[in-house]
Amino acid sequence: MNYKITTYGCQMNENDSEKISGMLMELGHVSVEDENMADIVILNTCSVRENANDKFFGHLGRYKRVKRDRPELILAICGCMMQQESVVAEVKSKHRHVDIVFGTHNIHEFPDMLSNHMEKHEMVVGVWQEGGEIVENLPVDRKYDFKAYVSIMNGCNNFCSYCIVPYTRGRERSRSIDSIKMEVEALAQNGCREITLLGQNVNSYGNTFEDSVGFGTLMRELAKTEGLDRIRFMTSHPKDLSDEVIEAIAEEPKICNHIHLPVQSGSSRILKDMNRKYDKDSYIALVEKIKERIPEVALTTDIIVGFPGETEEDFQDTLDVMEKCRFDLAFTFLYSPREGTPAWGRDDQVPEDLKHERLNRLLEVHNKIGREINEGYVGKSLDVLVEGPSKNNPKNLSGRTETAKLVNFPGDMSLTGKIVKVKITQAKTFSLNGEIEQ
Ligand code: SAH
Ligand code: SF4
Ligand code: F3S
Repeated sequence: MNYKITTYGCQMNENDSEKISGMLMELGHVSVEDENMADIVILNTCSVRENANDKFFGHLGRYKRVKRDRPELILAICGCMMQQESVVAEVKSKHRHVDIVFGTHNIHEFPDMLSNHMEKHEMVVGVWQEGGEIVENLPVDRKYDFKAYVSIMNGCNNFCSYCIVPYTRGRERSRSIDSIKMEVEALAQNGCREITLLGQNVNSYGNTFEDSVGFGTLMRELAKTEGLDRIRFMTSHPKDLSDEVIEAIAEEPKICNHIHLPVQSGSSRILKDMNRKYDKDSYIALVEKIKERIPEVALTTDIIVGFPGETEEDFQDTLDVMEKCRFDLAFTFLYSPREGTPAWGRDDQVPEDLKHERLNRLLEVHNKIGREINEGYVGKSLDVLVEGPSKNNPKNLSGRTETAKLVNFPGDMSLTGKIVKVKITQAKTFSLNGEIEQ
């Protein structure tokens, strides 16, 4: 059969989709781009913000008509939203056209659920409330052969008061260093140049182990992999970023000089309410320490605007952190109340128009800083891993520097997957232009 997977949300979900696709391929099914050609449609959902939930139910409604025309189409839904009981209850009562429902902890059960459904022709629902042992050795259908995601841990124990992820992904569990090494070595042997280690908080990698294998040790071990050029990772929680990890980044050329270090807010009062366990001053001090040890580092961050109770003064602190830390890139979000989280239902919500107004002011400062940083790259010659044709102009190539800067430049498609030297000729707010050096 032909199948089409649509993925929402973060890299964890993308990596899960690669595994779902891997399992289906192993069974002889074929991945297709065009949904009209698909016999199985799989929607891998995200529930980090409310509008993601709303949009999903909109999409789901659309499939009612599609299934009226093509009753034999199998519709499977999975991912973080399915870990919410209210969502599954709504699907069961109002969306009987769904055929298979599974969660984030049991993607390995999907092939069995599929055959079960094909035998019985009824809705099959299986969601585990908690994750068991991490299932190793699932086949993975990778999107690229020169770069790959490698999940090193599942779940999150931090319970930031706005966040649903600890409820949708369960408690933190780390994979063994040996199984990660095996996966990375196999990737490198197959020509993979860059890996991105994934976890909700990679800095607490290994905390559930008895011995003291930490994230720094893991990265140093992986840096020994022959043929591999770059190691990236995300995400780093500021409260757990150790000197050992900073040293590993500074010393190991293969570990990219880029840290995604979500600050969420600049106000110590809001950070306390968010349960982030650091404050404005300690965050700035951490950034200063990183920049001193790794002067060429790129720092990116996540910021939430309009957390309940956020005043103009709190927001000024966020602007101040942005100015002081000079982030290369910030992913900015309007606070979205998530049912079941501690911050949900607070009566001091920030009005929507005020949230938008603050976000716009934040973006203005952000764009100015981003452009200034990018201008500092002009005239430099940088290693760029070529990812393929540029989105805006398919005649150009695009790729990324070690510091995760997007670079566009003329060149031959056959360079895709290779690392080339590019001289930067022009800076834009979100990207750089350049020319290959001969
Ligand atoms: N584990 C990662 C984040 C995963 S969620 C970390 O701690 O860094 C990605 C981002 O979504 C978060 O960093 C946060 O900025 C944003 N986010 C999470 N919950 C949110 C909510 N309820 N409203 C708005 N943004 C949210
Ligand atoms: Fe959510 Fe906080 Fe865990 Fe990140 S660390 S996934 S923001 S609870
Ligand atoms: Fe969304 Fe789940 Fe990732 S809620 S952000 S897909 S962990």
